Amino acid sequence: MERKRETFGSRFAVVMAMAGSAIGLGNIWRFPYMAGEYGGAAFIIVYIAASLILALPIFFAESIIGRRSGLGTFGAMEKLAPGTGWKWVGLLTVLSPIIILSYYSVVGGWSVEYLFKSFEFARMQENEVTGFFGLFISSTWMPILAHTAFLLLVGGVVLGGVRKGIEQFTKITMPILFVLILVIAIYGLSLPGSGKGVEYLVKPDFSKLTPSTVTAAMGQAFFSLSLGVGTILTYASYMKKDENILVSGLGTAGFDLFFAILAGFAVMPAVFAAGIAPGAGPGIVFETLPYIFNKMGAASPLLCTGISFLFFFTILAAALTSAISMMEVGVAFLTEEKEMHRWSAVLLITGFAWIVGVLCSLSFGPLSGVKILGNSIFDFLDKLCSNWLLPLGGLLFTLFVGWKMSPSDVFDEFTNSGTLKANKAVFKTVMLLIRYVAPAGIIAVFISLLV
Ligand code: PFF
Repeated sequence: MERKRETFGSRFAVVMAMAGSAIGLGNIWRFPYMAGEYGGAAFIIVYIAASLILALPIFFAESIIGRRSGLGTFGAMEKLAPGTGWKWVGLLTVLSPIIILSYYSVVGGWSVEYLFKSFEFARMQENEVTGFFGLFISSTWMPILAHTAFLLLVGGVVLGGVRKGIEQFTKITMPILFVLILVIAIYGLSLPGSGKGVEYLVKPDFSKLTPSTVTAAMGQAFFSLSLGVGTILTYASYMKKDENILVSGLGTAGFDLFFAILAGFAVMPAVFAAGIAPGAGPGIVFETLPYIFNKMGAASPLLCTGISFLFFFTILAAALTSAISMMEVGVAFLTEEKEMHRWSAVLLITGFAWIVGVLCSLSFGPLSGVKILGNSIFDFLDKLCSNWLLPLGGLLFTLFVGWKMSPSDVFDEFTNSGTLKANKAVFKTVMLLIRYVAPAGIIAVFISLLV
């Protein structure tokens, strides 16, 4: 069934929507804790390389498939390669963002809780502030309640179609978040003992480079840019025909990388100043930032509360735009391919993500003893998605564009039917990355993991 699809209004809107999906908890929550767990600077170097060599080509590949077909993942594959098995790739990439949404909403819920907790940080003792996170997540109901609130917010926005409003809104909150992270980084650097954190971020210790570091860095690059799950593909299907795929990809990746590194500098120096172990895991940001706010509170409680509230509010906005993009992939599939009503699609996905999310949330408390292949439920799903499903999806997208689509179609899409002053050398380089470098890199990482 042909439907008239919406398109984004301007190049700025495209980059903002894609950046809205890309910039989220992955940058502010996941990047610092991954960098802490996998050895600091060495991890960051591999992460930057993986972003440029592996992730960026996939960004281009997804953009090409999405805009060429004007459809979500499943429909796109069916349209561009009718009657082939490629549509199953589409299905795989519909499932992974829904799994991510489940545990992402748990962390989104933590931000909701911390938003309210902001009013107390100034009054708390230092050890109470850093210890709060452990108490909070090991409790049963509060994190589930917060997860529910976050997920309802996501479902409500996707259902109510106020996404445009949210996008307008994040155009204001993103710059605020950026300034706040900058302020926090500068303040954190002024704390005694923070120098070790800077050293940790800039002085690589290559002895810490193991296959699992490389896998984690690659997974982070994919997660952070929302790749391999059809999100960018789906957003690109709303892109106008005269947008420049190269420019929007570079713009989004640039913003995203910058945000992550900045968040690293906002968190890691303070981690060392607060005496928290850099490998403390998923809670590290939630332990460290309140520590900074609490210290600020010594000078001015009002400032502490204000900055903390604004910070968690803007994080929430960033998390929302990312979570919306995850839900959108599934909703596009169910409404376009299964002709489901939008509200049933949203209800179905929200319900699924809620149940799986509850299990993830409990895995920090009552279900902490449940291990899947040695990991908690939360870690297992996160590793399954970031280290396997996202790279696998990305690999299949590059193979599709590099080997299945006709090179002239790809060239046509990349250069907007030849209207962009196509730099043939740039196109050749991008194709080289899509056809050989990215697939070979991902396969090599998979092999190293299996071996
Ligand atoms: N890129 C998002 C972040 O960094 O928070 C996370 C994400 C969004 C992953 C959308 C996957 C996705 F489909």
